[in-house]
Amino acid sequence: MSLKFQNGIDKARIFRFLQNTALSTLCFHRRKVHMARNNSPKVQVLYDLCKNNFTPSGTPPPSPQDVQKLSSLLDTFGPKDVGLKEESPDDDQGLGIFGLNQQTRVDRWVQPITYLDIHECNSFTMCIFCFPTSSVIPLHDHPGMTVFSKLLYGSMHVKGYDWVEPAIIQDNKGLNYPRVRLAKLAVDKVLTAPCVTSVLHPKSGGNLHCFTAVTPCAVLDILTPPYRENLGRKCTYYKDHPYSTFGSGAQIDNGKEEEYAWLAEIGTPDELYMHTGLYTGPAIQA
Ligand SMILES: [Fe+2]
Repeated sequence: MSLKFQNGIDKARIFRFLQNTALSTLCFHRRKVHMARNNSPKVQVLYDLCKNNFTPSGTPPPSPQDVQKLSSLLDTFGPKDVGLKEESPDDDQGLGIFGLNQQTRVDRWVQPITYLDIHECNSFTMCIFCFPTSSVIPLHDHPGMTVFSKLLYGSMHVKGYDWVEPAIIQDNKGLNYPRVRLAKLAVDKVLTAPCVTSVLHPKSGGNLHCFTAVTPCAVLDILTPPYRENLGRKCTYYKDHPYSTFGSGAQIDNGKEEEYAWLAEIGTPDELYMHTGLYTGPAIQA
């Protein structure tokens, strides 16, 4: 065998060796990345999904596929995934919605709702609200926003409206009758965990909603895009008045009056008692 030929075989062997080494290194690296993804806390996977799919303008809104993907992931969340412990009604200092005596009527407002910020950026807000029994987030809107709400534990009453479009407005008829706009009831139910994720959209699904805690409960919320007053996304509170309060200002089907309400803009309600707590769940690598 000539030296030249032998050199050729050696080169081929070296090339094959390098090729195999490179391939196994690549495979090892891929395995590591795959393992790292599999081992990521769920909240990190949730963050990555939001980061990759949501935009600061919220236009266009998330696609049905994106909504489905995010909802499916959120459906699997429980309190432990975000560092919470489920509170039982016995632990609660709140005193129930029903059968309140004078003392409890005072106490019911003493317990604040706790707000936990997980992540906030230009494209979305990821946060948790922890409610003591009977606490309320009064009726408020999410202009141009999509909101995912996953009840982590407990029971909560949700009432949600969407604006009737085109807008039907009645201007004030005296001091006690402010400017009101017609809305249609979209949601009016009690959710009990474990349950699927609720989603509201800019113009459907109950974009204006009110939460009342039936038992101690917690909700993981994702809002996209986030509230930004300077960009026209301000949180406004409302009071709902029965359709009959303002008579027949709008043409609606007979017998459907219960499905409609007139909403009047109000300031931040006094009964909204909220404080900020510290998120203690898995940290997010942003
Ligand atoms: Fe909300």
